Amino acid sequence: MGDDASDKPHGFARGLTNYGDRDFSIYLRRSFASSMGYSREMLAKKIVGIAYTGSGFNNCHRHFPELLEAIKRGVLAAGALPVEFPTVSLGEVFLNPTSLKFRNLMAMDTEEMIRAQPMDAVVLMGGCDKTVPAQLMGAASADLPAIQLVAGPMMTSRHGMERLGACTDCRRYWGKFRAGEVDADEISKVEMRLATTAGTCAVMGTASTMACIAEALGMSLPGTAAIPAVHADRLRAAEATGAAAARLLENPVRPSQVITQASVGNALRVLLALGGSTNAIIHLTAIARRVGVEVALDWLNELSGTTQVLVNLKPVGTGYMEDFFYAGGLGAVLRELRPLLNLDALTVTGETLGDRLDAPAEPVDRTIIASAAEPVEPVGGLVALFGSLAPRGAILKRSAATKELFEREGRAVIFASLEDLAARIDDPDLDVEPDDFLVLQNAGPTSPSGMPEAGYLPIPKKLSARGVKDMVRISDARMSGTAFGTIVLHVTPEAAAAGPLALVRDGDRIRLSVSDRRLDLLVDEAELARRREELVTAARDPAALRGYDRLYATEVLQADQGCDFGFMGPVKP
Ligand code: FES
Repeated sequence: MGDDASDKPHGFARGLTNYGDRDFSIYLRRSFASSMGYSREMLAKKIVGIAYTGSGFNNCHRHFPELLEAIKRGVLAAGALPVEFPTVSLGEVFLNPTSLKFRNLMAMDTEEMIRAQPMDAVVLMGGCDKTVPAQLMGAASADLPAIQLVAGPMMTSRHGMERLGACTDCRRYWGKFRAGEVDADEISKVEMRLATTAGTCAVMGTASTMACIAEALGMSLPGTAAIPAVHADRLRAAEATGAAAARLLENPVRPSQVITQASVGNALRVLLALGGSTNAIIHLTAIARRVGVEVALDWLNELSGTTQVLVNLKPVGTGYMEDFFYAGGLGAVLRELRPLLNLDALTVTGETLGDRLDAPAEPVDRTIIASAAEPVEPVGGLVALFGSLAPRGAILKRSAATKELFEREGRAVIFASLEDLAARIDDPDLDVEPDDFLVLQNAGPTSPSGMPEAGYLPIPKKLSARGVKDMVRISDARMSGTAFGTIVLHVTPEAAAAGPLALVRDGDRIRLSVSDRRLDLLVDEAELARRREELVTAARDPAALRGYDRLYATEVLQADQGCDFGFMGPVKP
């Protein structure tokens, strides 16, 4: 009953609801689809699905209705039928306990709705931190031809003569407020000026890092990662993405052909050259795992030693994402990295990465994007640490840290949970000195807090009042991509999984050596064995939970495996 009997079923004739009578299924589907006003000609077309994530709880996607129209324009002009469908949307600051907990839910939703509904290709509209990885994870598993369009970054704003951009400046001002340098009146004004347009955070935080990773993987059109959300080019990119999705109908390129060992290596190089978000290593690990590619932290260290930091953007440098766009965007970074990249990696348009980089380039603003000959930093922005405190690894964003703190031994000041941290960090009687290491336990993936971005422990008020700006801070939590400081994150195994982090006590000595890639707890094994026997972990008992909470508590993997669910990897043949 298809219009073109020689074709495999496509469009509305794909993936039929099963009533035991195929012709009846097509007849019924068409009659219901026609209730939406489609003509016979439209009903017969191939369909580009559009995974739509506009939401009243997602400020970063505020402009998605307009972007959606532009995508549809591109699809229609190229001869296919665009059909949007809603999925879970994750607005970073609107989710409790933390957006990461729901990334896997969004990935499952995206995967299943791509697979269950009748579409021939799909456009993924993502942007805010977890939405881009969730969509790439879901699309990689569904493996229908897919292309991603990101939201694009917010524009900066002004406070007096100063430029402000969420959310590095949020944290900077909050630090000033805590230190008494800014009063309640001023912080209230700043609050209304930090985030003023549609789009994702204005710095090289998690959202922008993931946008660049999507482009580096080859899953989005070249030159689209950094276009500001409100720029007319963003709408043109949406239209072009719709058209590219329609072309995928005739020349299918599947996510499993694009996300490969080669392109993941390229994405890791990009992450390191951007001095990008620590969250991105978790997300890239999870995306790669969906197609059977392992991102070992040793691989990160190997590439980090031979990849320079090339961008001068907050939180590591001084610029904002709009500066990055005008400076040349990701294409300019990729061209500097060219000798280090796998140029044969296939992209979603059917070109290789090398083809893309052969296209004529615009001039580059070297105050924002450095050349490989004169990099911002000689080595990559992230490094993995291993040792008795982190047998399976921990992450330090060295490009956003204080180098004087890199080779240190310090006394541990322990906070057993986020609640304990909130209750005591500003206690005037807290026994803490600037050379101490602040240690937060039980903030990892299986803890009750679900691995929040709490690794950026505040400097105790009594020390910040003395002018202390940075200290070594260690946890199994994550850190916002917009944050900075000498902050060791993702300690694995986490405390709630009875990792060595759970055994640290106040006053223990810890040694950090970034040059040796080491993080060690200097307590003898006999004492650790004694503590292990007494240990009661903070992990939740899955039997006492229900629904998604239970699935999450039972299945979430550790940070070194991307915090995906164990059963979401590829099916073994
Ligand atoms: Fe959405 Fe920062 S809150 S990207």
